[in-house]
Amino acid sequence: MRTADAIRAGHDLKRGRRRRILAAMITLDRISVEFPGGLRAVDGVSLRLEPGSFTVLLGRSGSGKSTLLRCCNGLQAATAGTVAMDGLGVAADRAAWRALRRRTAMVFQSHQLLPRWSAFANALVGSLGRRPLLAALLLPVPRAEAEAALDALARVGLAERAQARVDRLSGGERQRVGIARALVQRPALVLADEPVASLDPATAIQVLDLLRTVCRQDRLTALVSLHQVELARRVADRVVALAHGRLVFDGPPSQLSDEVETGIYRATRPSPLPTPAGEPALIGA
Ligand SMILES: Nc1ncnc2c1ncn2[C@@H]1O[C@H](COP(=O)(O)OP(=O)(O)OP(=O)(O)O)[C@@H](O)[C@H]1O
Ligand SMILES: [Mg+2]
Repeated sequence: MRTADAIRAGHDLKRGRRRRILAAMITLDRISVEFPGGLRAVDGVSLRLEPGSFTVLLGRSGSGKSTLLRCCNGLQAATAGTVAMDGLGVAADRAAWRALRRRTAMVFQSHQLLPRWSAFANALVGSLGRRPLLAALLLPVPRAEAEAALDALARVGLAERAQARVDRLSGGERQRVGIARALVQRPALVLADEPVASLDPATAIQVLDLLRTVCRQDRLTALVSLHQVELARRVADRVVALAHGRLVFDGPPSQLSDEVETGIYRATRPSPLPTPAGEPALIGA
């Protein structure tokens, strides 16, 4: 099935009909992840992210947010379903996943930076995917890549701190280095897993607004998991929510009513909520 899809996508690419098949930047088709022991962390999730959209992923702890995000770039293999990216088709083999990962940047809650390296060196890591490993290790950094790293640091407000060691930076500054590294990668898609969870509320807003701004400026598609519903309302074009691995809400932030919020976060397995006419229903589990 996966191979057939890939072949079909490639075939249609040749005929110039690719856009009709993949109108979204990334398309998840009935993705499930079942861990050994039978736990279904993600259960039949289908999602299409429009190019340039900023989608926030909500859900209780354990609802499957991180697992789903990791499926988007193959860090977590889905046990069923497919992932396709505009321009690449269905990720059906290692080469296709590599290509997809090159176009996908990840921003993590815990930054995942090299603590003893400078902000500049960490930002530069974003360019490594563009160079053969040996060249990256042995040859001097090309001037254009160095300029890209400095430019990205300037965009996140850290031009003055480029040479500072990351372990001497504040949490908010570190996360801004993480965003700079993502920008240097020149991705089409940004996946961010609770990028502001470890920050105080004011810094969280600053960093999230920054992420939103740079994504808008560069027309990047973003899927960002958050725990704070108020932040989702502030930055999202679209909100999707998981409960027990299933998609239970999909709509604009304006329709995240208190009732919907309660439905997303309540403890028991979700069932459809009664919703007033014209409002988005929680998707029935
Ligand atoms: N590698 C793994 N092996 C087994 N179970 C796992 C694994 N990773 C995640 N899980 C389980 O899958 C479920 C979903 O986990 P996941 O980390 O995706 O949730 P989450 O929504 O990101 O939670 P949080 O908000 O706490 O980060 C949880 O029950 C978790 O224990
Ligand atoms: Mg998580």
